[in-house]
Amino acid sequence: MDHILIIGAAGQIGSELTVALREVYGAENVFATDVKHPSRDIAEGGPFQLLDATDSRQLIYFAMRHGITQIYHLAAVLSGNAERIPFQAWDINMNSLLNVLDLAKEVPEIRKVFWPSSIAVFGATTPKKNTPQFTVMEPTTVYGISKLAGERWMQYYHRRYHVDVRSIRYPGLISYKTEPGGGTTDYAVEIFHDAVRKGKYECFLDGNTALPMMFMPDAIQATLRLMEADASQIKVRAGYNVGGVSFTPRQLAEDIRRHMPDFEISFRPDFRQAIADSWPQSIDDSMARTQWGCSYSYTRGDIVRIMLEEIGKRTG
Ligand code: SER
Repeated sequence: MDHILIIGAAGQIGSELTVALREVYGAENVFATDVKHPSRDIAEGGPFQLLDATDSRQLIYFAMRHGITQIYHLAAVLSGNAERIPFQAWDINMNSLLNVLDLAKEVPEIRKVFWPSSIAVFGATTPKKNTPQFTVMEPTTVYGISKLAGERWMQYYHRRYHVDVRSIRYPGLISYKTEPGGGTTDYAVEIFHDAVRKGKYECFLDGNTALPMMFMPDAIQATLRLMEADASQIKVRAGYNVGGVSFTPRQLAEDIRRHMPDFEISFRPDFRQAIADSWPQSIDDSMARTQWGCSYSYTRGDIVRIMLEEIGKRTG
């Protein structure tokens, strides 16, 4: 019987992955944790406890007490926020991962570890179009540096200690269930909230900035599929490139206008423009597709329609 530990269950990925994992493994077997209180469905839909993964003793105690067999470590300070507190972000992002990896090395009952990487591992010297799985990686942000270092540590723990680590380099993730959390790609979530509430949006990126994005249900499906795949299929023990759809803020605004003809967008790039400019515009995800069957269902049109509908319902 699997007992799953989720670290960062109140965050953007955690809020939805926790629900999906509870459906697969049974609510009582999925232990959601975070340093902050989650939404009601996470807190009441199964076990939840406050837990700080940067504290290795808390983590060990929790894992032993609940007989944990799989860990999904999702907690991180995202790219925009991390630039405001670089050392603290490094500390949180790296130490929590090293604690998790070391725990998995010491406790044989922990069979698998998932940790999200990001397109932020790439930098200005990386080919921007159809970015390959293996390529130049010179990230400029503290978030990207921590994700690249984390990928190397994952690989190291796999090679040296045979820990079954698995990871995806998520593109920008779009969801309506949680508010944006300080990332560079979060304009693609904020835009829908502002469209519904105010009918207009001031974008912190230039209108022609293309970035790869993915709708959250596709990201959740990809994560479940990667974690369910037989270990022999997983050839990459750092992060897998996954693609989704690529578009610019201007294209997204045009799609929104199809549903809301009066929607207005203006552009006022801030420090996140330089971050976006250093990231890929589109991703070659052929390895994820061929090795463990990664696929996506949602087009840009689907994402726009569903985001406007769902945020509309929530905003009343
Ligand atoms: N969505 C993230 C961010 O913008 C990238 O992983 O920080």
